[in-house]
Amino acid sequence: MKKENVIITGINRGLGKELFQLFISEGYTVYGILRNTLEAENLKDKLPKNGKIILADLSLDESITTIQKAIGEQPVGLLINNAGIGGLSYLIEEIESNEINKLFNIHCLGVFRTVKAVKANLLKAKEPIVLNLNSRLGSMTRQSSGTYNDITVSYSYRIAKAAQNMLTLCLRKEFKENIKFISIHPGKMKTDIAQIDADIEPKVTAKKVLKYFENKTFKEENGIIELDKQVIEW
Ligand SMILES: NC(=O)c1ccc[n+]([C@@H]2O[C@H](COP(=O)([O-])OP(=O)(O)OC[C@H]3O[C@@H](n4cnc5c(N)ncnc54)[C@H](OP(=O)(O)O)[C@@H]3O)[C@@H](O)[C@H]2O)c1
Repeated sequence: MKKENVIITGINRGLGKELFQLFISEGYTVYGILRNTLEAENLKDKLPKNGKIILADLSLDESITTIQKAIGEQPVGLLINNAGIGGLSYLIEEIESNEINKLFNIHCLGVFRTVKAVKANLLKAKEPIVLNLNSRLGSMTRQSSGTYNDITVSYSYRIAKAAQNMLTLCLRKEFKENIKFISIHPGKMKTDIAQIDADIEPKVTAKKVLKYFENKTFKEENGIIELDKQVIEW
């Protein structure tokens, strides 16, 4: 049986890179989105036939048409919204509104743009699914109960991830049973935007994501799914 077409954002490094390689090696046709021109050039000639790249900066609206042109009319069974950046400031005296804008623009509007670009392609697939890489730190329940009082996390990251969760809920309402939108906490991975308590390799998380997708038992939970573990309330 032919495997689904998959789109993964932010494949330059970290979890996105691992997901891109893993889904390709499992025989999916995978479109990896990255904004780094040099890395795109590097990758182009090394990829097998089922690995494709799309050069697009997801912080810009023009990425929508770039993605649409690259995908064309094909069905897309899985969209993984992984691209993201970390924030710095956790004190109101230090934070500039620009930092919040920047993180909102990728963690929330980046997802908005990819869904806008490929919604027609998703609707052509049998059981389309969108996985939004969120975070335990996007949980308002946990923030308000003080779970993270001992770690310093930027205002911008927490705000941007919480906003992404509301977008996930809005998309669920619009697309009801036609497309499933799932919010995922990938674990505390040892990547460039790792927290001090990071304890898992992105390669391990990528395998969990693949398994979760292939199990096909998607449930739109009332929160952020930490694979193999629990559901973290919004
Ligand atoms: N690491 C963790 O412990 C952790 C925990 C919870 C949630 N998450 C979430 O999991 C996802 C992956 O995290 P990670 O740790 O793998 O991060 P990472 O290593 O910093 O990688 C982030 C990727 O996103 C890309 N990206 C950023 N802005 C982009 C844009 N405007 N257009 C296209 N690509 C862009 C980056 O490309 P460039 O190289 O061009 O910047 C990079 O490839 C993120 O959404 C993150 O918030 C991570």
